Amino acid sequence: MAFYLGIDVGTSGTKTLLVDEAGNVVAESDASYPLEQPRPGWTQQDPDDWWKATVKTVRAVIKKGKVDASDVKAIGLSGQMHGSVFLDKDDNVIRPALLWNDQRTAAECDEITESAGGRSALIKMVANPALTGFQAPKILWMRNNEKRNFAKLAKVLLPKDEIRRRLIGDYVTEVSDASGTLLLDVVRRNWSKKLLGKLDLDPDLLPRVVESEEVTGQLTSEAAKALGLTTDCKVIGGAGDCAAGAVGNGVVKKGVLSTSIGTSGVMFVHSDEPQYDAAGRLHTFCHAVRGKWHMMGVNLTSGGSLQWWVESVIQGLAGVSGKDVYKAVTEEAKKIDPGSEGLVFLPYLNGERTPHADPDVRGSFVGLGMNHNRGAMTRAVMEGITFALRDSLDIIESLDVPVRQIRVSGGGSKNPFWRQMQADVFGRKVTTLKVEQGPAYGVALLAMVGDGLHRNIESACKANILVAEETQADRAAAKRYNALFPVYRDLYGQLKESTQALAEYREAFL
Ligand code: XUL
Repeated sequence: MAFYLGIDVGTSGTKTLLVDEAGNVVAESDASYPLEQPRPGWTQQDPDDWWKATVKTVRAVIKKGKVDASDVKAIGLSGQMHGSVFLDKDDNVIRPALLWNDQRTAAECDEITESAGGRSALIKMVANPALTGFQAPKILWMRNNEKRNFAKLAKVLLPKDEIRRRLIGDYVTEVSDASGTLLLDVVRRNWSKKLLGKLDLDPDLLPRVVESEEVTGQLTSEAAKALGLTTDCKVIGGAGDCAAGAVGNGVVKKGVLSTSIGTSGVMFVHSDEPQYDAAGRLHTFCHAVRGKWHMMGVNLTSGGSLQWWVESVIQGLAGVSGKDVYKAVTEEAKKIDPGSEGLVFLPYLNGERTPHADPDVRGSFVGLGMNHNRGAMTRAVMEGITFALRDSLDIIESLDVPVRQIRVSGGGSKNPFWRQMQADVFGRKVTTLKVEQGPAYGVALLAMVGDGLHRNIESACKANILVAEETQADRAAAKRYNALFPVYRDLYGQLKESTQALAEYREAFL
């Protein structure tokens, strides 16, 4: 029996799955690591933490699964997108990696747009506008703000590709994750020499780009020893966590969408050709399916908002601690009717990407009254997160993209209450999958394809992904949400002036 590993280098931790050739998850392991926030809106991590978590979780699944090292044929890599690992010429990490939700690069986004000859010229080159989380503005930020570090810079890698470098000793990325650098010609699926030239960036700073199912190399003897595997084990391109999650949800053909609630929230739709939202609210990226693309909307603090609410604000208050606290607070939220008795939560705790592309906006509760208890506030947080996904769904539908099925995944699918809430807020049936293991499962499937077990990723998904359950929208709840959603949607614009004033306050005093 052949086995495959899917490794997802996430923001809160790394998850590794050991999957057999029939697609069964044989063992899984997680390891978490800290997130540095040296200033409001700044996020960083130490790539050594990702590596330690990779080694630990791979060793754990091999042990749990009781498999022979030589039967592990290939590894698929997934990871948080857009992050920047800065390496010197000897492959030393120069400074902590800047992450996807880091907001320090607003000035550099303006610089990129200007150097490109304006927003539409930029979109023509790389299919997307400049957004603070993307990688290119991070490189420029280092050039503008850390001149000594920039002088040492030899390579910039995405998080999962730094793990790949430590596995195979080579600099390689693949199209789906490379799309989120803002340096990829997304239509031609290779680096945009034009934009690199306009930004005066050396193309040698970047790794080579392959399609997601291609073999990128084999484990070095050092890596094989560290992981307890053999040097015959291949490492496949893999995918950024959004495309990997979509593959894991079987979103590899037209008409199928997925939502995922992790730290971020993602509404993802497959497309056979590159398709654009002219206003640039959705991202247009290469899919992990050869020769296909996708659009997606991303909310920066999705499950992250519930985590903030539960772990930083009400932790201990519900009389329970640890993981059980989520169960307890959901029970409280369930007692409140849809619409949280007229309370609205905006989940913009660290700025927002879709649809506002605003690093300065912050979250709020609006409409608080004496009637609102903890359960109502928890429910409003969950509803706000779900409304943010609906913002993306509405944009997708306004572009005449067919929406035949919505597959829900992540925290929002495991919890039946939240699953129902999604169906009600979207006003549509949602489906869940039999095995829902997210991005790590998607890249384990890509590893199978890379190893020749399946002809392509579409057939790997067909063989391994089964729909388990459908949740129908409840009419009465959907009616309430339809009445509340416009209030939610308009609040961003109405609070804009205060948001700006608060950003100035933070700049002056924090
Ligand atoms: C996608 C994005 C996030 C991260 C989270 O554009 O920024 O979903 O990939 O891991």
